[in-house]
Amino acid sequence: MPKTGVVGKTYHRGKLVDDADASLSIRSKAVNYGLGCFGGIRAYWNDEREELFVFRLSDHIGRLFESAKILGLEPPIGPAEAHEAVLEVLRQNDARSDQYVRPLLYVDSDELSPTLTDVPVSLSIYCQPLGKYFADESLHACVSSWRRVPDNAIPARAKPTAAYLNSALARAEARKNGFDEAIFLTESGSVSEGSAAHLFLVRRGELVSPPSTEDNLDGITRRSLIELARDALSWPVIERTISRTELYVAEEVFLCGTAAELTPVTRIDHRWIGTGRVGERTRALGACFRAAARGDDERWSSWTTPVWAG
Ligand SMILES: Cc1ncc(COP(=O)(O)O)c(C=O)c1O
Repeated sequence: MPKTGVVGKTYHRGKLVDDADASLSIRSKAVNYGLGCFGGIRAYWNDEREELFVFRLSDHIGRLFESAKILGLEPPIGPAEAHEAVLEVLRQNDARSDQYVRPLLYVDSDELSPTLTDVPVSLSIYCQPLGKYFADESLHACVSSWRRVPDNAIPARAKPTAAYLNSALARAEARKNGFDEAIFLTESGSVSEGSAAHLFLVRRGELVSPPSTEDNLDGITRRSLIELARDALSWPVIERTISRTELYVAEEVFLCGTAAELTPVTRIDHRWIGTGRVGERTRALGACFRAAARGDDERWSSWTTPVWAG
């Protein structure tokens, strides 16, 4: 069996095993057809409190189970056990730095046809250290020529493994053309989201984001930012359809997501956004988000699950 070189423990089919032993057959339906769904969770190390805080763990587990429901898959364990399994993976890996956790629920069968019914389903969970997702402080994005996969073709509300071909195509095109990231439009031409992040813009002082009916993921960071903007900063937030050209005349644009956190976009399709520098609202909301996620703001303590306490 090939060794990955990564030393750690992975939850795999109900047990904690060495990373190198958490493998699937080349015949697996999960490998051949992408039959599965996954989550992406961040945990933030708080130096002062000497604690690792998992950000919105229950919400991430809840979305994973909703994704499974949408695909018609029956998870092998319940949400409470999955919650505990995530914490156990972090503990077993002695995680004391910023981490990314990936729970993956998949059709665990090596038979030929792409089926979602009457099939065994397994859950694997791994973690890895993760710092900044994007190398640069702000991005130059393009509007992709690839359209976001419609929710009624491959459910975009969920996180189905197969949908990430759509993300990868858009990202590859963006990178080959010299951009940092892609922005998807829906089939009907309105702004959907980034390749793996949601989008907000500031227009005439209001924070605007496409609703989660625009073929985008039911996003947890997006929801958190809306709550922080309204409740911590008393800003108006509007969820509405956004046209492509509104991107170009926005005062500020940023992307957000578990991996992306809050990442400013200062240029789109070669047009500077606002002043061309990171905007004030983007900075203020980013600071608010970082404090909440790292466990430094007691008002949002229900969002953070300590790994080591208790
Ligand atoms: C397609 C897509 N959109 C948006 C996001 C951001 O969602 P969340 O904030 O829930 O991580 C992600 C990342 O998980 C994603 O894969």
